[in-house]
Amino acid sequence: MKNNSLDVFPPGSIIGIMGGGQLGRMTALAAANLGYRCHIYTEDTDSPAAQVSATTTVASYKDQAALTQFAKAVDIITYEFENIPLSSITLLKNIKAIRPSPSILAISQHRGKEKEFAEQHGVNVAPYKIIKKISDLESAIKTIGTPSVLKTCRFGYDGKGQIVINEPEEIHSAWNQLSSDDLVLEQFVEFEKEISIIIARDTNHKTKAYQAAENNHVDHILDATTVPADITDKTASMAADIGLKLAESLDLIGLLAVEMFVMGDGTVVMNEIAPRPHNSGHWTQDGAQTSQFEQFVRAITGQPLGETKMTRPVKMQNLIGDAVRQLPSFFTNPNAKIHLYGKQEVRPGRKMGHVNILEP
Ligand SMILES: Nc1ncnc2c1ncn2[C@@H]1O[C@H](COP(=O)(O)OP(=O)(O)O)[C@@H](O)[C@H]1O
Ligand SMILES: [Mg+2]
Repeated sequence: MKNNSLDVFPPGSIIGIMGGGQLGRMTALAAANLGYRCHIYTEDTDSPAAQVSATTTVASYKDQAALTQFAKAVDIITYEFENIPLSSITLLKNIKAIRPSPSILAISQHRGKEKEFAEQHGVNVAPYKIIKKISDLESAIKTIGTPSVLKTCRFGYDGKGQIVINEPEEIHSAWNQLSSDDLVLEQFVEFEKEISIIIARDTNHKTKAYQAAENNHVDHILDATTVPADITDKTASMAADIGLKLAESLDLIGLLAVEMFVMGDGTVVMNEIAPRPHNSGHWTQDGAQTSQFEQFVRAITGQPLGETKMTRPVKMQNLIGDAVRQLPSFFTNPNAKIHLYGKQEVRPGRKMGHVNILEP
């Protein structure tokens, strides 16, 4: 297995990215600025990442021959989304180093493992129970109570694969809708606000945290992020400590985004983690000394990390579905920095781009 954590990949090396979405696109743009080439592996033609990358493989995430060829053609492998089959990850890691490591991916792919890992490291999560069958749900609803949220352990994103249960009688319809033997029931957290923090950790185990960001969700999809978050210094330092503790415990090389709920008393409860650039970190492109994408490339290629300092307060506004029609007003706003993902078709709920609006 090639997984030497000290390997340094100099500019000119080829970064293989699993996934062709906007996170891959913005990583590839940052990589190009540092002199790297990217090779995208995606199931889609004309993907956002492929449009700006040197090479693309379009094949199934389970195509062993294509995966093997891809791994041989690149110097280092990373991923821009988490739902890659573990069997494919195993195949890839036997050929080339994957950063962040596959063991971190295995944890972040599964809500149950994620919560268990957090608890083991003294990080607060909402009370939860793993649900494999309807009788588990019947007994869990008695301890967790309502309102609560039933979520699939795998493949959830942008609020997909989760159902809020307001009354115990609703469990059967929720169970029927999700129809999976790998679920988690969580207590509904009456939070005051949602924040997230992004941590970078390099091959020499140096860590840097970005300023905590405040997230506003609409229909369970991130709508806007404001930085700095309107939280006390104490809450901000608790959030950073949690992020740093998780990054260390996971032995991360790369980026870790940690989503958290802030409670009325200023304490925080972890929601979920992602070992990659994160939508709530897009503000760093125009409001921090080093963007999360450049930082990600630095970390996985074995370069020293850049400064994470916030240079300007920012509001990041996602352009979801039809909202992209507001573009003309952003083009005439001198404080708006526009980032579009090159997606041709506008669909409801589809992230088309985002705008970083700088504080004048
Ligand atoms: N236990 C919970 N209590 C209250 N709100 C929740 C809970 N779980 C999720 N949510 C809301 O739904 C959003 C999306 O859920 P999340 O678990 O982060 O899944 P996703 O992978 O879709 O981002 C959260 O950001 C939050 O607004
Ligand atoms: Mg989330």
